[in-house]
Parts: sequence; C-alpha cells; structure tokens
Amino acid sequence: MADPADTTGAEPAILDDALARLGDIDGRTGAIMQSLIRHLHSFVREVEPTEAEWLTAIRFLTRTGQISDDRRAEFILLSDILGVSMLVDAINHRSEATATETTVLGPFYAGEQPVLPYGASLLKRPEAGSELVMAGHIKGSQGATPISGARIEVWQTAPNGLYDVQDASQPAGHLRGTFISDASGRYRFITALPVSYSIPDDGPAGDLLAVMKRHPFRPAHVHFMISAPGFRPLVTQLYIAGDPYLASDAVFGVKPSLIVEPALVDGTQRITFDFTLDPAP
Ligand code: BEZ
Ligand code: FE
Repeated sequence: MADPADTTGAEPAILDDALARLGDIDGRTGAIMQSLIRHLHSFVREVEPTEAEWLTAIRFLTRTGQISDDRRAEFILLSDILGVSMLVDAINHRSEATATETTVLGPFYAGEQPVLPYGASLLKRPEAGSELVMAGHIKGSQGATPISGARIEVWQTAPNGLYDVQDASQPAGHLRGTFISDASGRYRFITALPVSYSIPDDGPAGDLLAVMKRHPFRPAHVHFMISAPGFRPLVTQLYIAGDPYLASDAVFGVKPSLIVEPALVDGTQRITFDFTLDPAP
C-alpha cells in the first residue's frame, strides 16, 4: 500500500482542488467537510483501490441503504460493529465522572411506550426461561439524592434472542415499558432473564463481520433510557455476569461497571442496581 504521507505526484493536487472547491462554509460544517475530504483522500491514497474494489465499496453502501427502513437501521449497525458508536459515546460523555456509565442505544429502541405501574411485568405473553425482578433507585448529585418522577424506559429481547420489532410472532410492545420512579426514587419491574443474541447478520453488516472474521453476538443485556428534568439523560445497558460474549461484544458496548450478577432469592432471580444521573449542563 502507498504511504499516505507521500505527497508527490499529481494526486495531492486533486485533494487541494477538492478543498479549494468548498464554498464559503463557516464554522463547524466547514471544518467537518474539510476534515472529511482530507481523511477520505488519505484513506484512498493509502489503500490504492482498484476500480473494481471501489465499485464493490459503492455497491456495499448502496445495499446498506436499500435494506434500511423504519425497522432496520443498517447504517447504525455498521457504526456499531466498527466501534464508531462507542467512540462517539465516549467523546460525548467525557466529563461524567459520577454518573452511571453510558453505552450504545442500538437500533431497537421503538419510541415511547405506555407507563406501567411500579412492580409491573414487561411481558405481554408468558415466556419460557427464568423470571427476573429488577429494582433499585434513580439518584442524582453523586448518588446521594433520590430522584422522584424520573422516566425509566426499558427494552430487551425475548428468550428467542429477538426484539418484538424483529419478530412478528411477539405482541407489539412485548418486553418494553416505561416506569416512573416513586417518591423515594425507586423503580421495580418483572421481566425475563435476558439472553445473548446475534445482531442482524443477514445483510451488509453481517457480510462485513464475516470479512473481518468476527462473530455477530452481543452478551445478554437490558436497555435503559432514563430522563428527569434538570438531569442529563442516560442511555445505558446492564449486562449479565458470566455471559460468554462479555469480552467480545460485536458492538463494543460492555463496560465493567455495567455488569451485574443476578441473585437467586426465594427461587427468583433478582438484580438490584442504582442509576446515578449527572446534572444537566
Ligand atoms: C442492541 O443492543 O440492541 C444492539 C446494539 C447495537 C447493534 C445491534 C443491537
Ligand atoms: Fe440489545
């Protein structure tokens, strides 16, 4: 491969030309377009694709767009499996030393769900596998003050490894719900013990994973999106200890502070976890 730092010959003139052709764009958009063109040209100079390889790349992106719709977010999957989603997450949460750590939203958030009462079940039909009770507090100010009235949105897959939006056999809204923390900042709900599952790998993201010789699995987890007036919204997941994919999550989403171990109490699996929110900037 060519050395991208080698700026001899006619090729650098193409870069200068492309940069000079940018209109009078100020501020952030101008800086982003300059950087995008410079990095893209540098990548192409380093790789020196054949015309056939470049067409393969264009067709790959075309297929990524064609397979995407309201239920299938293939570009999010590409961003996730290349580690870019977690990089954007890290860049945007640098200062939150005290809050619960964040992780990827993923493509299966399905919008606002009905509010369920404290202690309710997320299941809209019975499921095989273990029941799980999740409970804890929502707190602010370095974990000291309970936040009442926080909105806790929760979603996860069924024991078959699919979200309701991927699986026509599941009732809409199955294993999703919204809770409001009570006067003491408490939340509690019943769900099914989550399982590890494959992200959709029957499209371009799956093809790319195969090219990279990587598996498509995510460790078992439950998603949370928590918001409260005056606090920074928190998008995170809790992972089940002992899962075989914790160290090789297909989307790099695992952080040690988010791994929880269910405890068997009176025959029921239970997880207790307190979430801490940072004040809004
Ligand atoms: C998820 O956890 O729902 C997810 C995250 C990234 C890619 C695919 C799925
Ligand atoms: Fe998930």
